[in-house]
Amino acid sequence: MAFRAVKGMNDILPEEAGRWQRLESSFRSTVALYGYEELRTPIVESSDLFVRSIGETTDVVDKEMYSFTRHHESLTLRPEGTAGAARAYVEHTRYAKEAVTRWFYMGPMFRAEKPQKGRYRQFHQAGCEIYGDSGPVADAEMIAMLCRFFEGLGVGGLKVAINSIGSSATRQRYHQALFAYFEPRKAELSPHAQERLAVNPLRILDSKDERDRNVSSEAPSILEVLTDEDAAHFRMLTASLDAMSIGYQIEPRLVRGLDYYTRTLFEISSTADELGTQNALAGGGRYDGMIEGLGGPTTPAVGFALGIERLLLAMKDEPQLAPPFCYFASMGSAAITKAVMFGQELRSYGFRAEVDGRDKSLKSQLRRADNLGVRYVVVLGDSELGRGVAVLKDLVNHQQQEVGFEVLVSTIVERLRAPQPAEGAA
Ligand code: HAM
Repeated sequence: MAFRAVKGMNDILPEEAGRWQRLESSFRSTVALYGYEELRTPIVESSDLFVRSIGETTDVVDKEMYSFTRHHESLTLRPEGTAGAARAYVEHTRYAKEAVTRWFYMGPMFRAEKPQKGRYRQFHQAGCEIYGDSGPVADAEMIAMLCRFFEGLGVGGLKVAINSIGSSATRQRYHQALFAYFEPRKAELSPHAQERLAVNPLRILDSKDERDRNVSSEAPSILEVLTDEDAAHFRMLTASLDAMSIGYQIEPRLVRGLDYYTRTLFEISSTADELGTQNALAGGGRYDGMIEGLGGPTTPAVGFALGIERLLLAMKDEPQLAPPFCYFASMGSAAITKAVMFGQELRSYGFRAEVDGRDKSLKSQLRRADNLGVRYVVVLGDSELGRGVAVLKDLVNHQQQEVGFEVLVSTIVERLRAPQPAEGAA
């Protein structure tokens, strides 16, 4: 049987890679405007790191981790980037070196979810994390940056949902309120939610099960039980978003699926048809307890991650003009050797050159050049070689000329540097 890629994990072929590169470079330049620097962490971390930071009763840790044992150590393919970034922050004592740290990262993440359009087992995230800034302005600026980035990529129908899940004092009160609400209706919940009720009733609000959703629809709102400090933080968040004219909706039942959050939560989705049901483009929030939980000093933190595959589904494409290049069609080993030399020289000027070394007929080499959409082709055969010339063909203008070897590369460079006609014009 022929091999296939693992279910839920996809190849990114060269014809798609261009869109990935555009998205990634646009992300890099957007986050640079806000002062983020790149962090690259290993794809594999100790399983305990995810259990401790994301939380045992979350779906991600409970059901979706790719874990294995090596050298008596349980390791996991990272399901997200926040835990690894926080681990690196503590491990490299960044808190002792800078008051505020702003990091961004991009790369593959792994979750054993049920694959569907927009949901994969290997997927890619781009994310940002800030350590050392407890102010809601940092949260608001992150949301504003994401909106700017999505709009710049032509993503329509953006919706920003925000909520506060408070500090631990608020959450204790909320756990009690939720327990009191769900307990009398326990029989209506899914078996999984029934199990979670005593341990972590917050997770029931996040359940995808229809039964849990029905019961949750009238659950008490966390905003009603926020402490004064948490409420002031949330007010300042909305005031900052208002000041930047960022539209948002307050969704008191937004809890997000990871246990590490404190105070601010946000999710940005799009109504773009291409996304279907998996329409959450990015999610994030504050996690002021994680750094301390991992052995560092008390350090506030906030961050987000966006799903690159989903964004690619929603983003509009600008027509891209491929940079022009030159193709060398040569017949016979002496001509091919000469073409290889010219190709090398042309590349040293920064131009792409492709040398056809198959020694096929001129017709088949020209066919390949045509398929590649090449404008300039250099033809070199025995008769040209004997006279010290090559035929330079312009496939767009259907012109050709003989050019002496000594000026061949400079002539091609001049042609490639000249403004090219727009696609389809000619
Ligand atoms: P998350 O909401 O689990 O948050 O994931 C963020 C984004 O990753 C989602 O909005 C979605 O676009 C994408 N995503 C998640 N799972 C999949 C999947 N199976 N297939 C395709 N795309 C997916 C986090 O991961 C947090 N670490 C965000 C964060 C950073 N919070 C604070 N700092």
